Amino acid sequence: MIFKPSKRSIIEPFFAMEMLREANQLEEKGKNIIHLEVGEPSAGAPSAVYMKAQKILDEKKPIPYTDALGISILRERISEYYKSSYDVIIPYQNIIITTGTSAGFVLSLLSAFDVGDKVAISVPGYPAYKNILISLGLNPVEITTNKNQKYQPTLIQIKKLGNIDGIIVASPSNPTGSIFDDKELEEITNYCDKKGIRILSDEIYHGITYEKKALSIAGISKSGIILNGFSKYFCMTGWRVGWLIVPDELIKPIEKLSQNLFISTNALSQMAAVDAFDCNDELQEIIKKYKINRDILIDSLNHMGISNIAPCDGAFYIYADISHLTENSMLFCKDLLNNAGVAITPGIDFDQTNGKSFVRFSYSCDEENIVEASKRMLKWVKQINI
Ligand SMILES: Cc1ncc(COP(=O)(O)O)c(C=O)c1O
Repeated sequence: MIFKPSKRSIIEPFFAMEMLREANQLEEKGKNIIHLEVGEPSAGAPSAVYMKAQKILDEKKPIPYTDALGISILRERISEYYKSSYDVIIPYQNIIITTGTSAGFVLSLLSAFDVGDKVAISVPGYPAYKNILISLGLNPVEITTNKNQKYQPTLIQIKKLGNIDGIIVASPSNPTGSIFDDKELEEITNYCDKKGIRILSDEIYHGITYEKKALSIAGISKSGIILNGFSKYFCMTGWRVGWLIVPDELIKPIEKLSQNLFISTNALSQMAAVDAFDCNDELQEIIKKYKINRDILIDSLNHMGISNIAPCDGAFYIYADISHLTENSMLFCKDLLNNAGVAITPGIDFDQTNGKSFVRFSYSCDEENIVEASKRMLKWVKQINI
């Protein structure tokens, strides 16, 4: 008898993680590597979060399961955050705590769609969208975007898709960092509500913006789902805590799914995350550092002749066209890693076709690493251009 893995597990690997593995192997052999491949803040959680977690641990009380929808105090705190940051009233009952945005995707997609439903995603985009959709038996419908449209889908493109059941949008987006034009996002959201297309807005990079704030669909969409969490702005990737904002009809289904799939989100992380909202000054300092890093990197890339980059309005990524240097971004990244000790991510993670001539840089590290990485890359690009 031959046992085979399921068809639904046939998905693409996440090349950023493969680059990380190769980079780690080189580090183990003693090579100095600068990591610009992983999409996570190098800063840890805000100090108040650590202090709260420490206090809870010191009490040595059991860390229990929580209500599947999350602890009320955190849901209420998130509700207050929407009032103070977006001037929108979201009843705490519509806010559901999840094991990061990732689990939020699983819960929201399962609750809102049936097997075979079509969900649009834009390309280039975060690879997990497509992979989660496939593994849940949903059909991704790709919308190819370009620089002129800020790598965000347009209403015209969405209208042309015909019958779709849902759409995932992200602003700021990964890998480009680009933000939707407010009017366009508002029109798309209203169109989706009107046409019965469930919109899922991934707002995980909200708060990490440089020139203008990103628009939330909170308060705009009646049937849409918002996904957000503590991993990016709040620098709490490994704490694995995020949240969903869902319409009334999805609360009960998600509660039941959550009870059965996860029981609850990590209780310690939930309790500590409450204090993250009091750390705005500390977090704003980090955003200032990202902006400095972004500007240094843009300048260095220009010196390397890499100037065709996506509008990097937010997140901590630069998505760059390197077609004048290679048509094989994977090979380019491997060579850069092995020869210059700088790890970046090939564009094929985000766009299997055009991504062959694109790469993504993550600038969430320290400034000195950005400066050093820039020097190394400049030297290497000069060498390969000879
Ligand atoms: C666009 C986007 N959405 C969602 C996630 C998942 O984040 P988490 O599960 O840590 O909340 C990531 C992680 O990199 C991301 O880039």
